[in-house]
Amino acid sequence: MSLTTLKSSIMPPVIAHRGASAQAPENTLASFIKAKQLGLNWVEFDVMLEATGEAIVFHDDDLERTTNGNGPIISCTYNYLKTLDAGSWFDPIYSNECIPSLQEVLQVLYSHQLAANLEIKPLPGHEQKTVQRVFEILNENTSQLPSPLLISSFSPIVLRLVRKISPSTLLGVLFDEWQENWQSFCIEVQCTSVNINQTLLTLDRVKQIKEKGYLLLAYTVNNIERAHELLSWGVDAIFSDCPHAILAGLKIKP
Ligand code: G3P
Ligand code: MG
Repeated sequence: MSLTTLKSSIMPPVIAHRGASAQAPENTLASFIKAKQLGLNWVEFDVMLEATGEAIVFHDDDLERTTNGNGPIISCTYNYLKTLDAGSWFDPIYSNECIPSLQEVLQVLYSHQLAANLEIKPLPGHEQKTVQRVFEILNENTSQLPSPLLISSFSPIVLRLVRKISPSTLLGVLFDEWQENWQSFCIEVQCTSVNINQTLLTLDRVKQIKEKGYLLLAYTVNNIERAHELLSWGVDAIFSDCPHAILAGLKIKP
């Protein structure tokens, strides 16, 4: 699918960041199902490996903030991780939510026909193993999503590896700092989108990126005025923890 087709057919202006993460615990099955219930069609989520090399959907390097466990993810097996409560920190009604495997999340995407941005967030030194495992799982799961996955990462190592093993994958380059020579890496890995920290964006930078023909996605925008400003400048989509409220504030029907 070409970039133009991706944008004109299905890329919506608002993407549910870690699922509908202001309404349900982030990166859990409940957060993705909630996004669909709220009328969203695209979600973003983070993928890393645990100690035995299984791919899990989780954001932090350690367990404290979003589970009742503690310690670094990389020293935990999935057998242990799946016993943890990944929902009560958010609201006790979500006490049955676990850290999902990538396979479980893909099944929910298929069953709810949600399109997605899969962010590969490798633990340091685990880039190659993470990319390999993600692609093994994607290749085993052949059900159709409403749009091809957009795969993104902050890690140049990951992005180069993905491009090497999959010339046709849609890639997003994540930037958390502005780089004057931003385009050289985008050309190298032939990315489809630039996914950038919204605080870095000015009208001039938006124009620069859009003039080069990239999709431009901005994270994380929870303020309606800022969402309106960015979209009016030409940003294609924003990642939001409260996507439904942003759509309502902008008077866009989901
Ligand atoms: O992919 C956009 C955004 O999720 C990147 O930052 O830390 O929320 O994964 P983070
Ligand atoms: Mg992310």
